[in-house]
Amino acid sequence: MRHLLDTTDLSLQEIDDMIATAIDIIDNKEKYAHICDGKKLATLFFEPSTRTRLSFEAAMMELGGNVLGFSEAASSSASKGESVEDTARMVSCYADIIAMRHPLEGAPRVASFKSGVPIINAGDGGHSHPTQTLTDLLTIYREKGTFDGLTIGLCGDLKFGRTVHSLIKAMCRYNDVKFVLISPKELGVPDYIKSDILDKSGCSYKEVETMDEVMAELDILYMTRIQRERFFSEDEYLKHKDAFILDLDKLKNAKADLAIMHPLPRVNEISPEVDDDPRAKYFVQALNGKYIRMALIKTLLEWGGAL
Ligand code: CP
Repeated sequence: MRHLLDTTDLSLQEIDDMIATAIDIIDNKEKYAHICDGKKLATLFFEPSTRTRLSFEAAMMELGGNVLGFSEAASSSASKGESVEDTARMVSCYADIIAMRHPLEGAPRVASFKSGVPIINAGDGGHSHPTQTLTDLLTIYREKGTFDGLTIGLCGDLKFGRTVHSLIKAMCRYNDVKFVLISPKELGVPDYIKSDILDKSGCSYKEVETMDEVMAELDILYMTRIQRERFFSEDEYLKHKDAFILDLDKLKNAKADLAIMHPLPRVNEISPEVDDDPRAKYFVQALNGKYIRMALIKTLLEWGGAL
């Protein structure tokens, strides 16, 4: 049995295989419509979510399985003081696979110690969001046909944005990837990401404070929300909340085949006028999230011998 706690739990070959499975699912939905008949996915969400929880649930339903779970800690026995380990141990009596989101970094890993079924990290605090990264990788592959040689602009709250941390870890493993880190100084990528991942992998990167100075270089522009819920004070959040707003004027110098991505939800950081630009890929990215989660559920159940 294997869990998915971080993107680096998967080898590059396993990621390639999962992307190939997702693409086969997109092309041959009927072939997969009953492979999880009789199986159950539990979604344990201790933190709010729209896309991740609902795409996991839709994914399991489209594979023929069923879903159970909760969408807030207050409606679970965590509110009575039950530990994450005990919750996972109990739920693994009722479900074949668990997707867990938790505000505490490392909580899905702790859950995995006592779970009898695969645990999928659906986002843990500011740490990691590996299924968003798989979603992003599927989107990049479908848009660009490769991971190698791309220049990727990551823009916004790079300090607290767990999707950015996971994506850097994943993309650093490919060849000749260049990162352009666009953020206010106070919201830059944490030092451990620079020293342990960017520097060690030999990936090239630069840090800038405006989009305009780098727009023309980018193959991918990955916008992120300022993570209000992770700031220590509302004043700090207000200082940064509209630091970057992408609009059509800012795209004037962008490449014709730029892919604009965003894990969503957005607040103000992409103006709605950009939605109709053919370079806007964030809604198709959200749809890709369902397909890659179908591939992930199938793969983890197979690895655990449940399929
Ligand atoms: N991208 C993402 O994790 O969205 P949700 O918070 O809505 O799940």
